Amino acid sequence: MSGRLAGRVALITGANRGIGLAIAQEYAREGATCILAARNLAALKKVAADLTATGAKVVVVELDQESDDSIRAATQEIARQFPKLDIFVANAASLGARKPIISYPMDTWRQTFQVNVHANLLLLQGLDALLKKSDAGRVIILSAQVATVAKAGTGSYAVSKAALESLARVYMIEAKDTPIRVNTVSPMATRTKMRADAAPSEDPMTLKTPESIAPLFVALALPSCELQGEWINADKWLASKKLM
Ligand SMILES: NC(=O)c1ccc[n+]([C@@H]2O[C@H](COP(=O)([O-])OP(=O)(O)OC[C@H]3O[C@@H](n4cnc5c(N)ncnc54)[C@H](OP(=O)(O)O)[C@@H]3O)[C@@H](O)[C@H]2O)c1
Repeated sequence: MSGRLAGRVALITGANRGIGLAIAQEYAREGATCILAARNLAALKKVAADLTATGAKVVVVELDQESDDSIRAATQEIARQFPKLDIFVANAASLGARKPIISYPMDTWRQTFQVNVHANLLLLQGLDALLKKSDAGRVIILSAQVATVAKAGTGSYAVSKAALESLARVYMIEAKDTPIRVNTVSPMATRTKMRADAAPSEDPMTLKTPESIAPLFVALALPSCELQGEWINADKWLASKKLM
């Protein structure tokens, strides 16, 4: 397929719905080979079938970010099938509970950190060698505004996203002598299941769609995009369609 991402191999976690699905669809349209990962294999296979029908190259990998074994199996499977990885979109996340910190359930706290932080560390550890085989590895981390702007009731979601941002910065510094570029996107309020779970009284139709911000993720994935260590507010990008 032709397109600005032709010849590029991209892993998108959480690719069966929401923002991850929109990114996968946009990457496929731009000619990337897409590796779609999440827990719900049936939903992933449906997405893969739809994309394959448009001529896209798509591979499905089962990934449960709550399980270290599943993460290792997924990265090994990707390494078995692909000699390099050009793009890693760390999109999948867990919302946790909407409870005050002081009474936050510790099992939920640990689960959120496992999915949002530890899993992304293990994914980077498993994918780093493949990313370094790319002439322009691009790592795009999905974070959230609550990582830096405190909001009551956001508990382990907010704190784990802050940790994830820190993880991304450390990885970026340690990969500074390579062609890898690491950037973070805060999607801001977007019409997805996670947003509906987080703000059930909100009318979803007042929110922007995941598809509207998918082109931002193409811009960040291009080999010509040399941005490094940026934190991009998707609403600001949408208003200007400029990265900086
Ligand atoms: N929507 C917003 O307003 C908003 C705002 C700020 C930040 N974000 C961020 O944007 C990203 C995408 O969010 P979204 O709104 O598109 O969420 P979503 O619609 O709930 O999708 C989340 C995705 O993550 C996957 N996932 C969840 N737990 C997983 C696990 N344990 N292992 C593997 N995959 C798992 C889900 O698939 P399975 O359940 O099949 O595994 C699903 O594909 C997240 O990082 C989120 O924090 C979203």
